[in-house]
Amino acid sequence: MQKITIVGVGRVGESTAHNLAKHETCREIMLIDIMEGVPQGTALDIQESAPIYDFDTKLTGSNELKDMAGSDMVVITAGVPRKPGMSRSDVLETNLAVLYGIVDEVVKHAPQAMLLTVTNPVDVLTYAAWKRTGWPRHRVFGMAGVLDSARMASFVAMETGFSVKDINAMVLGGHGDSMVPMTRFTTINGIPVEHFLSKEKIEKIIKRTREGGAEILNLRKTASAYDAPAAAIASMIDAISHNRRHILPAVAVLDGEYGLKDICMGVPCVFGEHGMEKVIELPLIAQEAAEFKRSAESVRADLAKLKN
Ligand code: 2OP
Repeated sequence: MQKITIVGVGRVGESTAHNLAKHETCREIMLIDIMEGVPQGTALDIQESAPIYDFDTKLTGSNELKDMAGSDMVVITAGVPRKPGMSRSDVLETNLAVLYGIVDEVVKHAPQAMLLTVTNPVDVLTYAAWKRTGWPRHRVFGMAGVLDSARMASFVAMETGFSVKDINAMVLGGHGDSMVPMTRFTTINGIPVEHFLSKEKIEKIIKRTREGGAEILNLRKTASAYDAPAAAIASMIDAISHNRRHILPAVAVLDGEYGLKDICMGVPCVFGEHGMEKVIELPLIAQEAAEFKRSAESVRADLAKLKN
């Protein structure tokens, strides 16, 4: 990739930029934020780490959305984070207005780009971005599942003591309290996690995964998670820029998969050079299907607010 723009230079945006630069995922990173000096200072700070990390990626900061021109990828992290005690849906109204303002500029200045939504509530905002752009679904998607799955894998590693490198976890559904951690597809070097952990322990991990974002927020009080979210964003972009055809859970527009249409939520997807190239439809057993349906209903409840 030549150019990636990140709109919203809070901690998620900054950590994402540093990740992408360190891995030389692209030649150029444009950081855009309305706060004067913040994107410029952040770009310079990261740029000054280049001789140490040994990367050639060039970083620039700007307060003008038009400077995203020519981007292959635009990542939206701008918006207000939730405060302790709030749900992700509580910031919908504010963040929707922010999102529309940005998306209209993306359509104007980077009409060929892919759009990756991160701002919460991410399922609803990804849907809103997709509708607003009118772009095909392979170019508009959101980050949540990689983060939620990484959290679940981390908790499995902590609980079993096994290498995190052997652990594959999968979390589907909406990125909220109704997310669906998929125990049946969570394995340790191919061995189902149930072989190593009791039902009670797995239940605890599922609960902790669902509340993973809130756990960090409650500890930090003034900031949501950003290191793991940024790593998740960078891994999705890496899959696209290297055309890896990596299977990653992500927020995608559904077009009949899982019996759903006209909705965005977390499903396993194939990521390659064209973006979200395919939604993988897993055969769900009754309990999983029921949880997935419940999660879809909670996303739909937020989508209804969008249409009002
Ligand atoms: C999280 O789960 C902020 O939604 C983000 O940490």
